[in-house]
Amino acid sequence: MPPPRRVYLDHAATSWPKPEAVYRAVEHYQREVGAPHGRSGYREALQSNQVVERARQGVAELIGAQRACQVVFTASGTDSLNLAIRGIVRPGDHVVTSVCEHNSVLRPLRDLQDNFEVSVHYVPCDEQGRLSADDIRQALRGETRLVVVQHGSNVIGAIQPIGLIAQLLRGHDALLLVDAAQTAGHVPIDVGRLGIDLLAAPVHKGLLGPLGTGVLYLRPGVQQVLRPLRMGGTGTHSSDERQPDQLPDKYESGSHNLPGLAGLAAACDFLKARTVEKIHAQLECQTGQLLNRLEDLAAAGRADLKVYGPRPEQPMASQQSHVEGDIQGGIEESAPAHRTSVVSLTLRDYDPQELAILLEASHGIQARAGLHCAPRMHQALGTLAGGGTLRLSLGWSTTQEEIDQTVQALAALAP
Ligand SMILES: Cc1ncc(COP(=O)(O)O)c(C=O)c1O
Repeated sequence: MPPPRRVYLDHAATSWPKPEAVYRAVEHYQREVGAPHGRSGYREALQSNQVVERARQGVAELIGAQRACQVVFTASGTDSLNLAIRGIVRPGDHVVTSVCEHNSVLRPLRDLQDNFEVSVHYVPCDEQGRLSADDIRQALRGETRLVVVQHGSNVIGAIQPIGLIAQLLRGHDALLLVDAAQTAGHVPIDVGRLGIDLLAAPVHKGLLGPLGTGVLYLRPGVQQVLRPLRMGGTGTHSSDERQPDQLPDKYESGSHNLPGLAGLAAACDFLKARTVEKIHAQLECQTGQLLNRLEDLAAAGRADLKVYGPRPEQPMASQQSHVEGDIQGGIEESAPAHRTSVVSLTLRDYDPQELAILLEASHGIQARAGLHCAPRMHQALGTLAGGGTLRLSLGWSTTQEEIDQTVQALAALAP
């Protein structure tokens, strides 16, 4: 029997498929351009310069950065987070973060704790994965240098009240670093309106670019306190042994991932045409359906099925105050999203890994099982000892049929 058709529900890990234009742009770069960026003046080298600047401008427009040079290219979301955390925090500093964070935040912070006398406060979340801005306020100290929180959870989809957190940091020396790995391209983001100092994201998830590139947005002025971690050739100021100070060169030594950036430029064009607002509305609707139908299954006697995270159409109390806070602060943000398209579940008697294998073998459904690189989050949810959860994550290409198939497959496994 042929294997079942591939139902890809692992967009939180990386998006697949990419829009056709992304594949075409990568191939065009590889076959027809193939030149480095920022180093030479021949025709193809100038085309490479354009590729980089189109990708930079594209990301800047999608996240509301005023100038393209405020967007720095890195190797991945992890690389962006490492640059931001290690480039800002100094020995003796205090950092506030949350139990929801990914290991790409937890591990650099743990290293700073262990080796550089940095102290870290982990703010708890409620059972829906939501953070309280009040808890963050109470954790702040005079020596707090950085507050690091994710925008959307990669485990259960909760979206955090970023605007409110940014507001409470006004007048405080601490900078706000937002991990937007799960929201860039899936949820509208405006860094200026939200008051974000640094925003890190990979480009291979919701931004629909190829693997191998990340972005770090810097609010104007942040470059004065952010030390580069990687230094070397930039193609500019080549007689100077010191790292150039200007953006984006300060953080972009070495040759760029040009095939990846060609794909990213095409992905940004796609996202601008389709709009992130529309993609978000589609994902919100599909995720709502999936959640409601999973809850129906549980209510119909499949009580062994447990779904984690915020329910559909249920704005969080903290988001409510987020809206009010924004209005008071003159920031127009009428309807902030409250969850992403990441759904986690457990089914009693099944190990999450076993469940993932069965779903693929029987129905072609590809999902990720385990801890999703967020051990503290699973500790908070009570799912650490059981090996985590099964995570279904939807993306731009997810169809109604795929949602139906997934619910049917889970119903068959939870008789
Ligand atoms: C919340 C979160 N932060 C950071 C990352 C790291 O991104 P990357 O895999 O591009 O390094 C991920 C990736 O899964 C993530 O989900």
